[in-house]
Amino acid sequence: MKKLDLIHGVTPIMKLEKLSRRLGKNIYIKRDDLTGMEMSGNKIRKLEYSLAEAMAQKAEMVITCGALQSNHARATVAACKRLGLGVHLVLRGDEPEKKEGNLLLDTIFGAEISYLPSEAFADHENYMEALKRTYAKKGLHAYIIPIGASNGVGNLGYLDAYNEIEKQSHHMNIHFDRIVCAVGSGGTYSGLYLGSQLSQSMIPITGYSVGGTSEHFKSKCKAIISETVDDYLHDTTTIDNAFIDIVDKHQGAGYAITNTEQIAFIKEVAALEGIIFDPVYTGKALFGLCKDIENGNYQQDQSVLFIHTGGIFGLGPFESWFHESISPINR
Ligand SMILES: Cc1ncc(COP(=O)(O)O)c(C=O)c1O
Repeated sequence: MKKLDLIHGVTPIMKLEKLSRRLGKNIYIKRDDLTGMEMSGNKIRKLEYSLAEAMAQKAEMVITCGALQSNHARATVAACKRLGLGVHLVLRGDEPEKKEGNLLLDTIFGAEISYLPSEAFADHENYMEALKRTYAKKGLHAYIIPIGASNGVGNLGYLDAYNEIEKQSHHMNIHFDRIVCAVGSGGTYSGLYLGSQLSQSMIPITGYSVGGTSEHFKSKCKAIISETVDDYLHDTTTIDNAFIDIVDKHQGAGYAITNTEQIAFIKEVAALEGIIFDPVYTGKALFGLCKDIENGNYQQDQSVLFIHTGGIFGLGPFESWFHESISPINR
């Protein structure tokens, strides 16, 4: 399957020296937050494939969905504008008076946006199908990308990323005992897991849920992986799903809900390493990984590669959490 070229080359792998010393492990990060600027983060790897399929199907419009601060939605809008495609977002929540972060960028880029309150958003798949029919009546062919581009075709992006990591590991002469990522809609994890299963190296992949149970994500990842294998790789290899490993105990109160401990951790790592992890995805997942290392859960692993999947534009709504003068207790 052909893909578009939307990423700025191979993303670097670097060691978090001070955090590593503190934890007594080698903690590396793969900087997928540097895949681009407007199109930065993990989603653009998936979109290289999803949008290639949209173009191959001669789509004129792309419809996709997500939370108000969806990084995926913002990356999709930027990429569609670059490619000359129209784009319609279906976002969960009421239209806020003040638009910030990813949503501000969506509006600057001129995306069409439908805001659906949470209850209505439960039916977002049918809503997107209905939109597609509406565009068809206007003579426009629309291509639908599901939440997070986490489906069979988008998954190919992180299968590629696994292969990229293998090559980098070889060139850097570093063996990674484990690869770790945040799990929001499951596509990043699924692609890496599939890459691992199809490789000689078979590096174990651990995902940290940012909202949702391990069981939910295990079955979602299995479905995504089999869609990729059946529909895109046309492979008869049986993928062993027994090693799918998704931890849900650090998700806190749920998706996009943070707490003082996680914010303190994000601030601490930022001050130590000069790198921002966000409260919704990467900060939560890295927090979980570091907690588990401290609790002795990864004694057999010496070098761990954490995928920094981006998310800096989603920081806006959390601004007050980062002001020391505001007590989180009084929020
Ligand atoms: C910055 C960031 N990191 C991680 C994730 C999780 O990736 P996935 O949806 O592929 O599980 C997302 C999106 O959900 C994201 O926007």
